[in-house]
Amino acid sequence: MIPNQFYCFSGIVITLYIVVLHTLASPTVHLCRHDQRDALLEFKHEFPGADMKSSLSSDYDMSSWNKSSDCCSWGAVTCVAKYGQVISLELVNLSLNNFLKPNSGLFKLQYLQRLTLSNCDLYGEIPSSFGNLSHLIELDLGHNKLVGQVPASIGNLTKLRHLRLHGNKLSGKFSVLFANFTQLFTLGLSYNYFEPEPLPNMSRFHRLKIFDVKGNSFFGSFPTSLFTIPSLEWVYLGGNNFTGPIDFGNASLSSTLQYLSLADNRFNGPIPESIFRLLNLRFLNLHNNSFHGPFPAYLFTMPSLQWVYLARNQFDGTIDFGNILPSSNLSFLDLGDNKFDGQIPESISKFLKLEMLDLSNNKLEGKVPGCLRRLKSLRLSHNSFSSFGKSSQVMMDQAQMLELRLDSNSLQGPFPHWICRLRSLKLLDLSNNSFNGSVPPCVRSLTETLQVLNLRNNNFSGLLPDVFVNASRLTELVVSRNQLEGKLPQSLINCTSMELLNVEGNKFKDKFPSWLGSLPILSVLILRSNQFYGPLVSTGFKTLKIIDVSHNDFSGTLPTLYFSNWLEMSEITKLSSYFDPYMGYYVGFFMRGSGFYSSSMELVHKGVDTEFEKIREDYTSIDFSSNNFYGKIPESIGLLKGLRYLNLSNNAFTSNIPQSLANLTILESLDVSKNQLSGPIPPDLDELFSLSTMNFAHNNLEGPIPQGTQFQRQNCSSFMDNPRLSNLEDICGKPHVSNLTPQEPEEILEPEEPVINWIAAAIAYGPGVLCGLVIGHIFVSHKHEWFMEKFGRNKSRALIISVR
Ligand SMILES: *[C@@H]1O[C@H](CO)[C@@H](O)[C@H](O)[C@H]1NC(C)=O
Ligand SMILES: *[C@@H]1O[C@H](CO)[C@@H](O)[C@H](O)[C@H]1NC(C)=O
Ligand SMILES: *[C@@H]1O[C@H](CO)[C@@H](O)[C@H](O)[C@H]1NC(C)=O
Ligand SMILES: *[C@@H]1O[C@H](CO)[C@@H](O)[C@H](O)[C@H]1NC(C)=O
Ligand SMILES: *[C@@H]1O[C@H](CO)[C@@H](O)[C@H](O)[C@H]1NC(C)=O
Ligand SMILES: *[C@@H]1O[C@H](CO)[C@@H](O)[C@H](O)[C@H]1NC(C)=O
Ligand SMILES: *[C@@H]1O[C@H](CO)[C@@H](O)[C@H](O)[C@H]1NC(C)=O
Ligand SMILES: *[C@@H]1O[C@H](CO)[C@@H](O)[C@H](O)[C@H]1NC(C)=O
Ligand SMILES: *[C@@H]1O[C@H](CO)[C@@H](O)[C@H](O)[C@H]1NC(C)=O
Ligand SMILES: *[C@@H]1O[C@H](CO)[C@@H](O)[C@H](O)[C@H]1NC(C)=O
Ligand SMILES: *[C@@H]1O[C@H](CO)[C@@H](O)[C@H](O)[C@H]1NC(C)=O
Ligand SMILES: *[C@@H]1O[C@H](CO)[C@@H](O)[C@H](O)[C@H]1NC(C)=O
Repeated sequence: MIPNQFYCFSGIVITLYIVVLHTLASPTVHLCRHDQRDALLEFKHEFPGADMKSSLSSDYDMSSWNKSSDCCSWGAVTCVAKYGQVISLELVNLSLNNFLKPNSGLFKLQYLQRLTLSNCDLYGEIPSSFGNLSHLIELDLGHNKLVGQVPASIGNLTKLRHLRLHGNKLSGKFSVLFANFTQLFTLGLSYNYFEPEPLPNMSRFHRLKIFDVKGNSFFGSFPTSLFTIPSLEWVYLGGNNFTGPIDFGNASLSSTLQYLSLADNRFNGPIPESIFRLLNLRFLNLHNNSFHGPFPAYLFTMPSLQWVYLARNQFDGTIDFGNILPSSNLSFLDLGDNKFDGQIPESISKFLKLEMLDLSNNKLEGKVPGCLRRLKSLRLSHNSFSSFGKSSQVMMDQAQMLELRLDSNSLQGPFPHWICRLRSLKLLDLSNNSFNGSVPPCVRSLTETLQVLNLRNNNFSGLLPDVFVNASRLTELVVSRNQLEGKLPQSLINCTSMELLNVEGNKFKDKFPSWLGSLPILSVLILRSNQFYGPLVSTGFKTLKIIDVSHNDFSGTLPTLYFSNWLEMSEITKLSSYFDPYMGYYVGFFMRGSGFYSSSMELVHKGVDTEFEKIREDYTSIDFSSNNFYGKIPESIGLLKGLRYLNLSNNAFTSNIPQSLANLTILESLDVSKNQLSGPIPPDLDELFSLSTMNFAHNNLEGPIPQGTQFQRQNCSSFMDNPRLSNLEDICGKPHVSNLTPQEPEEILEPEEPVINWIAAAIAYGPGVLCGLVIGHIFVSHKHEWFMEKFGRNKSRALIISVR
């Protein structure tokens, strides 16, 4: 996230006569003009609370600024040697935490040609004094907390060519504020709060090369006038509210446009053939609009195109690439989330440079395509593919393939052995198909690179092979919902990066794998619905957040200190997420800042079998239900202050409900039903204000039900079959609990809407975050905008410098 997207100022011409004094200055010769030095120090002193050290390098901060050295040698400062004038100041990633004063020392640096104050925690309005810096060519105030309107005085900076104000909270009307900025080459206004309005006639901005207004609220029809500007190279209109068809009929015939993003708007209609006028278009992003019509074959005859994103639209019909030229430069193609049907034509193998192909979430069938030797990423999830073409075995250059997602198709037969030859694979998802037979030992050859292996919901049977000795990068292993049996492979102990292990719904018959307790970052352990047996020995497991061992044959007592090791759950996790407007998604929202890949996971949530698409970072859960545990519920449960969900139901626990449960202040759901608990419901549970679902039914509890509203809101069935509980009149409307009819358990299963909502919210953020993870793990991002712009950023730098 280099905020300073376009280092355009330099212009080779200027650099020729600038001597950058970092290299030349001897400490005794003061070349810096004193007024310039004083102005810089005055500016520095305006931020007394600031951390002057930037995270990366003193080339972008004020830590080296002091009177004992020449100010031209200070970090972030560049002078013209001959005159001792400061012409460039470039501060990045500093926590200045203050307003810019109208009479700041900054405005005494009157020779400044380039000024970057990017990601510096600047507040308040942009002072109109910027109008005094009349030599400015480039101004970058991106990624701050600036509010209000852009001062008109900046319009007086007639030399200004590059203006970047992205990632602030600036308001006002674009058509008024920027009316006089017609000389700009770069206008970067993304992610601000400009008033909703249509874009004005843009043809007056006749020198524009880069126009970036993504993430605002512009609306209205396609701004055709913009495309008449002959110098235009990069256009980002994504994330606004534009509607209607697009048309390049008036685009300049010498169009230099290379990058066009219209993503996340409400554009519709077909892709017009007039797009051919964009002779130099390399990147086309139409993701997430309402474009429709048949497959736009002609698009693929444009030799300049390298990246095409048409995902999340309404295109339909069969895929037909037409005449693919051998010179085609297409390397990234995303057609996911449309309504394409039929088969993928063989001709796709003529895209000799194709590296990434996404055709997920369509209605495609037939064979998984082959002969794509340059491919690094293939995503065909959620279609009806039923077999592999003959060529599949040579499908991918075995050294290149990083990601293979074939989940949720109709694939069947044994595990495709050729996959074992994809020696660079990081992500393999074969879940939700009908593969059968054993998981072959050749999987061993994948495990050195593999980060995610998902075989969920197939018919794999037999033992899970003991092949994980070298799987030190594996973070997620999901083999749930198969017919696997026997013991868990001991080599899982070597998966030191493992965060999630899900073997739910198999026939594993083993003791509790207590040895997994030494895995340093294991967060989620799901053994549910197998035949595990014996005591639940718990050592280690310090980082667990979710454990589900329900529906097995575990037995024995839990020692008093049982939970005292589970450190991760003993603190309330703070949500570290924040919306990163630059990335366009929530960062750090899910576990360990990245989130799990696993396309889904079933947990019993508040009595409801819930399929989680994504799990929130602060979700914690213990499910020991439906086993044969007996004895007292350990007091140490009260140490798990971060616990939200606890299910101990359907065991043989005896004695009192521990008082310490009252320490679990964020507990939302508690189920101890179907045990042999006696004594009272601890009255202090009244103070657990988050507790919204609870079940005490079928025990021997006695005494009054706590009066708190959480309790009073429960269904009667939550207390039934405890003959000695009293005060049930308000809840059950009947004097005697024992009269309750047994029809009522159904009500236990009623989902509690308001409570599930936050999970729903998490699921809603899913796709974006999923991408976050994929960026971390895999080289391509599903969040196209991000990836393209990352690419774009580097390119643009080179681009501009060569232009001036
Ligand atoms: C500023 O911070 C971003 C991430 O927050 C980083 O990508 C970038 O390299 C940093 N730039 C400098 C100059 O420190
Ligand atoms: C001034 O800055 C220089 C580096 O530019 C540093 O070596 C020196 O110690 C600093 N002096 C003081 C008094 O901070
Ligand atoms: C800006 O320029 C005007 C006119 O030259 C001057 O009066 C004013 O003091 C300057 N402002 C700053 C902050 O230097
Ligand atoms: C733009 O320039 C015109 C003519 O110089 C001036 O009248 C108008 O106020 C300016 N608009 C803004 C927003 O600065
Ligand atoms: C722009 O410059 C003109 C002439 O120097 C001056 O009169 C005017 O006040 C300036 N406008 C703003 C908004 O600073
Ligand atoms: C925009 O303005 C230019 C020049 O004034 C004019 O030729 C063109 O027709 C206008 N375009 C639209 C779409 O109004
Ligand atoms: C987009 O426009 C519609 C009405 O045309 C409006 O309801 C909606 O709030 C707008 N969305 C944004 C993000 O501005
Ligand atoms: C193209 O330009 C002509 C003449 O300026 C205009 O009449 C027409 O509406 C423009 N077409 C589009 C799609 O803007
Ligand atoms: C699609 O675009 C709409 C705005 O038009 C936005 O609200 C939504 O989050 C986008 N969806 C995705 C998956 O990016
Ligand atoms: C294809 O890409 C190569 C290298 O990136 C480039 O040199 C060539 O000009 C491109 N071809 C077209 C038609 O744009
Ligand atoms: C696997 O784990 C065992 C037990 O911790 C250890 O002895 C062995 O060296 C590990 N092997 C590798 C290849 O890391
Ligand atoms: C409950 O919390 C209190 C106060 O934090 C603490 O003193 C007590 O030890 C806790 N009890 C248990 C069983 O965790």
